Amino acid sequence: MRVLSGIQPTGRPHWGNYFGAIRQYIQLQNEDQAFYFVANLHALTTIRDRNLMTEYTLNAAIDLLALGLDPNRAVLFVQSDVPEVSELCWILLAGTSMGLLERCVSFKEKKDRGLSPVAGLFTYPVLQAADILAYDSDVVPVGQDQTQHIEVCRDIAQAFNHQYGEVFVLPKAKVLSDSAKVPGTDGEKMSKSYGNTIEIFESPKEARKKCMRIATDSRPMEAPKEPDNDHLYQLYSLFVDEKNRAAMASLYRAGGFGYGDVKKAIADAAEAFFAPARERRAELENNPDEVREILAAGAQRARAKASEVLGRAQEACGIKF
Ligand code: ADP
Ligand code: TRP
Repeated sequence: MRVLSGIQPTGRPHWGNYFGAIRQYIQLQNEDQAFYFVANLHALTTIRDRNLMTEYTLNAAIDLLALGLDPNRAVLFVQSDVPEVSELCWILLAGTSMGLLERCVSFKEKKDRGLSPVAGLFTYPVLQAADILAYDSDVVPVGQDQTQHIEVCRDIAQAFNHQYGEVFVLPKAKVLSDSAKVPGTDGEKMSKSYGNTIEIFESPKEARKKCMRIATDSRPMEAPKEPDNDHLYQLYSLFVDEKNRAAMASLYRAGGFGYGDVKKAIADAAEAFFAPARERRAELENNPDEVREILAAGAQRARAKASEVLGRAQEACGIKF
């Protein structure tokens, strides 16, 4: 079974990205053959600054490695290092109906958010389909917001197979659990677009400051409280084991301590939780050549598979003979 997913290099990852996505990708490397790539061609639809593009792309790879992606288990590469995908994308575009893309909500959403409605943003799901189909991917782990794109990919693959014979493997989405649950500093879903994030790799001092400013309700914490629906408790629970979680839950139910104490506990737990990754990240940052080598080796493995699949598609539609 091959698992594949793409991670957009859109800046510094936050706690929500880690628990909702990155951690789960990393766990999958132990179960199946995993391919993960930094989706820089997708990011080109929104990032127009050359230096930012390079910086974000390398940073995304470093972040994944620091957080535990093991290049000996998973194949890690940069999307644009596999040109076969862009070629396959054109073959797919040639047969994709406008109506299918017009039904995608992500284009409309991005346009409404003020992103410039370029053609690449409209055809974005076809590039994503090429990403998936190029590696005969069986399973695509994604957040809830991406499930429509996997359906589009299946539609495109089915239409091609129907026209030309069984060329593509039909992938299945694996919706990541809790991919919308990590609360931000205002208690709403943590998201870059809401400005309520705490980043994984910001300095512990900055992260602590943000923790201390997390919004709370006006009820005195000293009163006994049910922990389960409280966003401070939810955040704390992410970073600790069952024993500490239960201890915090009893403190909530007994009452008698302040919100400030919980916020401090969150800051302490988060700092300890990410300390090894922070250390590993600093090492990788000082060794950019090591990162480039990992990405080059990943691209080589990815290309071997993609050129085989592209060849199949080219032959099937009569452009390679
Ligand atoms: P943002 O909302 O900050 O722009 P993205 O849309 O880039 O985040 O998220 C990338 C992935 O990270 C999503 O597909 C989702 O699975 C996960 N994710 C993002 N925010 C959260 C959150 N608050 N809780 C859980 N998972 C999240
Ligand atoms: N569109 C995905 C996102 O915004 C990133 C992505 C690009 C992707 N290509 C992919 C995800 C292929 C899964 C498979 O998060």
